[in-house]
Amino acid sequence: MPVLGRDVTVPLVTGGEVTYAALDYAASAPALQRVWDDVAAYAPYYGSVHRGAGYLSQLSTDLFENARRTVAEFLGCREDDQLVFTRSTTDSLNLLAAALPADCQVFVFETEHHASLLPWKNARVTYLDAPRTPQQAADTLERALAARDPYGPALVCVTGASNVTGELWPVRELAEVAHAHGARIVLDAAQLAPHHPVSLRDLDVDWVAFSGHKLYAPFGSGVLAGRADWLRAAEPYLAGGGASRRVTRREDGGVDVEWHETAARHEAGSPNVIGAYAIASACKALTEAGFDTLVAREQQLIRTVREGLADVPEVRVLSLFGDDAPRVGVISFVVEGWNSSHFAAALSAEYGIGVRDGLFCAHPLVRTLLGGDPQTQGECGSPEAAPGEKSLNAIRVSFGAGTPDEHVARFVGAVRELVAEGAKWSYRTEDGRCVPAV
Ligand SMILES: Cc1ncc(COP(=O)(O)O)c(C=O)c1O
Repeated sequence: MPVLGRDVTVPLVTGGEVTYAALDYAASAPALQRVWDDVAAYAPYYGSVHRGAGYLSQLSTDLFENARRTVAEFLGCREDDQLVFTRSTTDSLNLLAAALPADCQVFVFETEHHASLLPWKNARVTYLDAPRTPQQAADTLERALAARDPYGPALVCVTGASNVTGELWPVRELAEVAHAHGARIVLDAAQLAPHHPVSLRDLDVDWVAFSGHKLYAPFGSGVLAGRADWLRAAEPYLAGGGASRRVTRREDGGVDVEWHETAARHEAGSPNVIGAYAIASACKALTEAGFDTLVAREQQLIRTVREGLADVPEVRVLSLFGDDAPRVGVISFVVEGWNSSHFAAALSAEYGIGVRDGLFCAHPLVRTLLGGDPQTQGECGSPEAAPGEKSLNAIRVSFGAGTPDEHVARFVGAVRELVAEGAKWSYRTEDGRCVPAV
């Protein structure tokens, strides 16, 4: 599946240029060419949505609502589900957090991305320890839910694929456990949806959230889809035009508002029609390409990377569930004797390879994965450690649709070479990051 940026060249600090190897899909994936073409074809017809009597406003409104139907179909939504267009996964989960019924208990594993870990400010939250097997995840949740106050509402929030290890979580099993205890479950599919089919119906989850920019549609939209009742009962996420059906002055001088009960309730303001259309276009493109084909191709790339890294004894790949766990194309690792920021900077500056280093907005998980095992970190870019805490960070490589063999081959070769020969350039720390000393 062609993506944008295939021919982009970047300068090397050692001289010359090379085509950029975008291996940071887990942060933001490149746009699918198809998405870009669809958006470009629509752009001249752009108009306001749900307001405006003109032809292009009508057309844009139809496009927006058709996008909602396409994405709902892609996600296997049930008849009564609502699909709200948001800005991102973070926005979607904060929307759901704002819609929780009173006295809701929330259960979340410490392994979650901060977008899933942190939004539950108004609930009683139980943080669950990192499980070491999928079965342990189900058992941990079972025990926590069995001990909960059985009468109030409860929500479990779980990721489908880890943004650190790429490992798949036993979503269907966790949904079964949640429902057996009268709890609901929201699936953070930010890393799962770009790589695997996600069906609310098949997984039996109550909500799903994901981001367009990780699904090859980087136009500022995300999605929250699922049960309508909590969303309908909640105050609008944002108050304003579009969410309100009728606004009147009261005799006492105040204002009465009737809010919509549809998804529009949580979509106040002018909708991002291009963002929604781009997501729908990506959903169609992925469906037409077929997830079986995409998964088979991605598994081949995963094997190349993992086998390549396994050949370098200084490299330790981070894993919660072990080597055989099913995973998507997201792999994090540390290299003995190297500060991860230094290593990532050298991959970029000397090989034109874009990866990510750090804690990946999943600090508790990375601490759990690295914490017991002191890393010998080089000087450059070494983050300030809290007193008594080891300095921690890791390197993450991630890929998906449109990744050519050459990018992963270059990456594996570069890791081998850097470990064997060291960096060719010198680096210094600037604002806590490692950069070439030029
Ligand atoms: C698993 C997971 N959940 C949530 C998010 C947040 O996504 P966004 O930054 O698009 O809101 C990310 C982003 O990396 C993620 O990997």
